Amino acid sequence: MAVRDSGSLLIGLLLLFHTWRAWAAVEVSMEDRVEVFRGDTARITCMYKSEDDVGGITIMWLYATRSGERQNIYFQDSNMKIVSQGTPFTNRINMSSSDASREVVLTIKDVQLADELDFICFVKSLTAGEGEGRTKLKVFETPKHPTIEVVPSGVSVTEDSPSKIGVCEVKNGFPKPNITWYRDKTPLRTIPDEVTVTSSRTIESSGLFSVRSELSMKVQKSDKDALFYCEITFYIPGGMRMIETSHVNITVFYPPTAVSVWVESPKGKIKEGDSVELHCHDNGNIASELAIVHGNDDYSLENNVLVLDNVTRGASGVYQCTSLDMDTLINVSGNVTLSVNFLDPAVVTPKESMMLAQGQELKATCNALSSLQTHTAWFKDGQEILKGHTLILKDATFDTAGTYVCVVTVPEIEDMETRGSLHVNVKGPPEIMKLDNTEIEVNFEKSVELSCVAKGFPAPDITWTTSDGKPVKATSHENTEKGTRSVVSVKVTSDLTVFCNASNDYGADAMTYRIKATTQTTTQATTTTSTTISTPTVNTETVDPPEKNKTGTGGTGVIIAVIITCVLLLAILGSVLYFLYKKGKICGRSGKKDLTKEKSKKDNTVVEMKSDNTEEAILLGVNGEKQLSSDQ
Ligand SMILES: *[C@@H]1O[C@H](CO)[C@@H](O)[C@H](O)[C@H]1NC(C)=O
Ligand SMILES: *[C@@H]1O[C@H](CO)[C@@H](O)[C@H](O)[C@H]1NC(C)=O
Ligand SMILES: *[C@@H]1O[C@H](CO)[C@@H](O)[C@H](O)[C@H]1NC(C)=O
Ligand SMILES: *[C@@H]1O[C@H](CO)[C@@H](O)[C@H](O)[C@H]1NC(C)=O
Ligand SMILES: *[C@@H]1O[C@H](CO)[C@@H](O)[C@H](O)[C@H]1NC(C)=O
Ligand SMILES: *[C@@H]1O[C@H](CO)[C@@H](O)[C@H](O)[C@H]1NC(C)=O
Ligand SMILES: *[C@@H]1O[C@H](CO)[C@@H](O)[C@H](O)[C@H]1NC(C)=O
Ligand SMILES: *[C@@H]1O[C@H](CO)[C@@H](O)[C@H](O)[C@H]1NC(C)=O
Repeated sequence: MAVRDSGSLLIGLLLLFHTWRAWAAVEVSMEDRVEVFRGDTARITCMYKSEDDVGGITIMWLYATRSGERQNIYFQDSNMKIVSQGTPFTNRINMSSSDASREVVLTIKDVQLADELDFICFVKSLTAGEGEGRTKLKVFETPKHPTIEVVPSGVSVTEDSPSKIGVCEVKNGFPKPNITWYRDKTPLRTIPDEVTVTSSRTIESSGLFSVRSELSMKVQKSDKDALFYCEITFYIPGGMRMIETSHVNITVFYPPTAVSVWVESPKGKIKEGDSVELHCHDNGNIASELAIVHGNDDYSLENNVLVLDNVTRGASGVYQCTSLDMDTLINVSGNVTLSVNFLDPAVVTPKESMMLAQGQELKATCNALSSLQTHTAWFKDGQEILKGHTLILKDATFDTAGTYVCVVTVPEIEDMETRGSLHVNVKGPPEIMKLDNTEIEVNFEKSVELSCVAKGFPAPDITWTTSDGKPVKATSHENTEKGTRSVVSVKVTSDLTVFCNASNDYGADAMTYRIKATTQTTTQATTTTSTTISTPTVNTETVDPPEKNKTGTGGTGVIIAVIITCVLLLAILGSVLYFLYKKGKICGRSGKKDLTKEKSKKDNTVVEMKSDNTEEAILLGVNGEKQLSSDQ
């Protein structure tokens, strides 16, 4: 029993020893993995430790398929080196060994994807047993440059579900590369209802991987400025690498959220009659319809512009521009307030015409309704007499009479002006403008022109009478704003008193001319002279231009009259001379007298001489009897 027991113990120990020797005698060490690009050469090193000398060592290289099957590819012992025939490695492997360091290196040329296998180095010692180690061979392929494509038609922010943004693709990588989407610098991951990233992988016939990733998301308006790209990550021997696609932006369609509407022209204040241009814009980028509503008026716009011609105050108010998105029927609007300024016609009170009594006071106002501050001034005879809209005329005299014009302007807007006028008449008895000297000496048988100017309202009647009560017919009679002017021509045959009587409803005034008939003075060498009386002009300081021009035309009339007279005189002279010649009684003195008589009869034309009438004077002199100055 004891012997049996000890015998079995020995056998057990022997067995144990044997196994330990076999298991522990050859120690093989190898790298876990060897990484290499496809097509490159892989080197798998196998190191072993054994007490045997090299001569007793057998080395085998095998690979293990994924199912675990082993396939011998190389054999070497002290006698031979054999590459197994008919394996995928037959022509691509070699082995080098260094006996001193107990190291063998399996070299695999032109590594293929299918070479991604476990390689086993099996070492067997003649005396010390055997050992093996294994190394994974990893094969890599850098993928082709990735591409990105975004939907060219653009994306609308109004979509309810995520819309397709684009596709990234990377081809021919090994092992499978990964694709990550980025929006600006932020990676995009699937978020339900917001972002969807779907990736798909294809294995090419070459065994390489191609990956395609599609991004869908709900876009916001801000995405129009975002840059999208994909990052591709993939492994390479000894690490990982990444490449990016180009960065692209997407077209985002967004409906407007605001509308702005404004007056493009005119700049500044608007007045009635202006042409107003309204512009309307929304901040969306989709085709939306713009329309403007003002009160009950609807306007459609042309190129976002609405022109209102010849506006009136009724065009004032709020203009609401609405942008309507035809797809979503969402509308947004904006307002602008237009204010059309106006200036109504001036209203003068009292109206148009006013009759005052002398000494009376008149208060007149001039008002024009305007949307803006106005400025009013009163003018008389072109001179500004007052600023402000109330005109007060105190203590009316005939000089107060006239036309008052009020001008209302709007200082803020050029060319806005309205005018009103008021005619003021001052009623009262006539006042004749008295002359300094009404005692006149006039050559016997000469005509004299007398004038009389009377103010007063109603316009006075002017009558002329001689002292013996005979009426004298006026040669001219005119009513001006300055008064009534009447002129008579009187032939002086003896001393004479002439009355100018002016009268109206309120009274009468009179002026008396005393005319002394004189005989021809010695200085009057000529036979014919024309006598004129310098008649009072109406208010010489304020003579109006039209009056000046009136005298101008009167002057030409006089010239024509003088010429006609001269022609007549020459005709008479000729006929008289002829008559005398026929009678044979040519006698200087009597002839001259006759001539004088005849001529003075015709010479009724009287010129109103004024300081600036030298031309007339000269003409008169020349046409008369070579005399420049007459006896005036
Ligand atoms: C293996 O190595 C030998 C000697 O270095 C060389 O002649 C041969 O071409 C190599 N074979 C391969 C497949 O590399
Ligand atoms: C790709 O993604 C998978 C799953 O997230 C990950 O396990 C793998 O390491 C990634 N590969 C690279 C190259 O990033
Ligand atoms: C966005 O794309 C448009 C053309 O689609 C281009 O004109 C624009 O420059 C791009 N903007 C940026 C920031 O890349
Ligand atoms: C402008 O409108 C006013 C009033 O409606 C009218 O009298 C005037 O003739 C118009 N002017 C033009 C140029 O149309
Ligand atoms: C604009 O939208 C409102 C409701 O939001 C609607 O009542 C109105 O009729 C719309 N206007 C137009 C022109 O569609
Ligand atoms: C624009 O005007 C319309 C009508 O005049 C008014 O109902 C609306 O509130 C205004 N909108 C704004 C933003 O002022
Ligand atoms: C004209 O006035 C004078 C002087 O006042 C007066 O004597 C004469 O009667 C008046 N004649 C007429 C017709 O009124
Ligand atoms: C007077 O008449 C002349 C031409 O006859 C003209 O040139 C001038 O302007 C007129 N003067 C006035 C104040 O009307």
